[in-house]
This record gives sequence, structure tokens and C-alpha cells, in this order.
Amino acid sequence: MKGHPTITVKSTGSEMPAIGLGTFGSDHIEPEKIGEAVRFAIRNGYRHIDCASVYGNEHIIGQVLHDLISNNEIKREELWITGKLWNDAHESEAAKRSFRKSLKDLQIDYLDLYLIHWPFPNYHPPKCSVDSRSPNAKPFDHQRFMNTWRTLESFVDDGLARHIGTSNMTIPKLTGVLEDVRIPVSVNEMELHPHFQQPELVKFCKEHDIAVVGYSPLGSPHRPERDRTPEDTVDMEDPVIVEIAKAHNVHPASICLKWANANGHVPIPLSTNERNILSNLEAVSTDPLTQDEKSRIDSIDRNCRLIKGHVFLWENATDWHDLWDENGVITT
Ligand SMILES: NC(=O)c1ccc[n+]([C@@H]2O[C@H](COP(=O)([O-])OP(=O)(O)OC[C@H]3O[C@@H](n4cnc5c(N)ncnc54)[C@H](OP(=O)(O)O)[C@@H]3O)[C@@H](O)[C@H]2O)c1
Repeated sequence: MKGHPTITVKSTGSEMPAIGLGTFGSDHIEPEKIGEAVRFAIRNGYRHIDCASVYGNEHIIGQVLHDLISNNEIKREELWITGKLWNDAHESEAAKRSFRKSLKDLQIDYLDLYLIHWPFPNYHPPKCSVDSRSPNAKPFDHQRFMNTWRTLESFVDDGLARHIGTSNMTIPKLTGVLEDVRIPVSVNEMELHPHFQQPELVKFCKEHDIAVVGYSPLGSPHRPERDRTPEDTVDMEDPVIVEIAKAHNVHPASICLKWANANGHVPIPLSTNERNILSNLEAVSTDPLTQDEKSRIDSIDRNCRLIKGHVFLWENATDWHDLWDENGVITT
């Protein structure tokens, strides 16, 4: 990955490319379009692709990876490919099946990173409404989560995953998990953008040598309707972001990405627009923020969580706040 900006994953000393391409089509972008974005991105310098089985497009991305690798346009070892275990497959045999299917669909023989997508094992159908509560939904259970983690550890033992990690976690949940892991949590993927900075969780991850990957780094402007509420704010319209963008002569999106890298996060913006794919990579490769600009953006946090996770609520849960342990204890 010569010349490509990277961050060091402390648990292994590996270098993770400092920007990834997101691949969640938010239920409205066709898998083929995402596949073409991946092809364009890799041809133009991206080295990190954020995938997940639930995005429903790994088979298309796999065809693109196969083409590029077999044409000698890129070597497998130059890429960082992330996969994620969906919530309906936390049980050991199901997790193994799902992991093997991701490898097969992606047409690769190992993943650089495999994450437990959400810490809740319930299943909800794709595109279901935010008000629907699955009768099978359960709150977080440490032992059950660790059983899933053991299965992920076996993927590392077998040389099939280089790193394993978590996503959508909280400090109370991670604290317990870290006490019980045999193979460390290398990465935590979490929602991060200027209006939702999660400073305590980021600090916790850094203190525990967990690399931070930030999802929805631009504030997910095209997220599905179900993930929108009237209180949501718009990062890219924040006057501080707009003013700093003018000073750098770039789009506000670039400033969100420069801010992520200035804080040591790895942002994974989705784009299927060639101009945006190029400018997002350029944003993290050139012209960083000054310390003063970084500090100004650090001060515009609005604690505005966009991906609230309503669909994971269990029968007796009050509302989505219960998913995020805001009182410092695990809500059950
Ligand atoms: N772990 C998890 O639970 C989780 C949850 C959510 C998301 N994710 C991951 O994070 C990725 C990114 O999150 P996201 O898609 O929600 O939000 P995002 O990256 O913040 O926003 C993506 C949107 O921003 C637009 N955009 C991209 N670059 C732009 C630019 N330079 N200027 C203007 N607009 C730009 C894109 O439209 P164009 O295509 O038109 O450029 C796209 O619709 C996902 O794709 C997925 O891989 C993970």
C-alpha cells in the first residue's frame, strides 16, 4: 500500500488504509451499481472496501475483485476487505456458514477484518418498518456474545480472518468483552461524523488499542426514510464545516473526511459517483486540517445519532436509547 495513507492497527501492527469505500446501498442502490463503484474505486487508488453479508451485494463485489485480481490490476494482499456477520447468524454453526458464504461470494480466501455487525442476535426482515418489534428480539447477553466471538477467534486460528472486531458497541459492553477475549478486538466500527463524535467511546478504543472505523462519516445524506427523524441535523450544512470547506476550496464532504483522519478514525464513505469517489480519496491524501480547524470541528458535536437501531428493540424495551447503554450500564 505504498503511497496510500494508512493507520496502524495496534493489536497486530498491520496497516489499515485510512479510507474505505462503503458498500451499503441503503435499500435503493442496485448491487451492480455498488460493484461498479468498487471497480472504479480500486482502479483509482482505494485499497479498503467495507462489505457485509446483509448488504446483499457481496457476490457482485466478488466478481469485481476476481476480475481486477485475475487481470493483474491489483494484488489480493494490497487490499483490505472487511466483512460482517449479520444478526441472524450469531449461533456458531450459522456463523461459520455465513462466514464461508462471504468468502465464497467475495471470491477471496481470507478477510482482512471480520466484525460482529450488531451485538444483538435478533432477526428482522430487510426494509421492515422502524415500529416493528421482532418477537424474537433479545437484549444483549454477554455469554451469548462471547460464544459468537469464540467462533470468530476460530477464523483467525484457521488463517481465514486477519483481524476480528465489533460494531455498534458501547463502553459497558466492550469492557466486559475485553475481559474475556483470547484474540483481541482489533477494530470497532461505529457511527462517527462531526455531529456525532462519540468522544468517550473513541477514547476508550484508543486506550485499549482498538482501531476506530467511522461509518456514515458524511452524515449519511441518502439514508433510508426509516432512519430519519425530525431532530436529525445535517453535518455538511453546519456553518463551521461550510466555512472551513470554503477556506480549503473543497466540498464540505472533504472536510468531514479530513476531520475523521485528524482524529485517527478511518472513514468509510459510500459513493457511487465517480467524482465524489475521487474527491473523497483526495480529501484524506492531501491538505490536512490545521489544529485550529480540527478543534473548531471537535466543538460542533451535537450528539446526533442517525442510525438509532429501532429494529433491534426487544419486547419490554422503552425506546432506541436502551440499545446504547447511555447510563453507563448494559440495559436489559
Ligand atoms: N457497521 C454498521 O452498522 C454500519 C452502519 C451504516 C453504514 N455502514 C457502512 O458505512 C458506509 C457509509 O455510510 P453511509 O452510506 O450511511 O453514509 P455516508 O458515507 O456518510 O454518506 C453516503 C452518501 O454521501 C454521498 N456522498 C459521498 N461522497 C460525497 C461527496 N464527496 N460529496 C457529496 N456527497 C457525497 C453519497 O452519494 P453519491 O453516491 O451520490 O456520492 C452517499 O449517498 C456504508 O456504505 C456501510 O459500508 C456500517
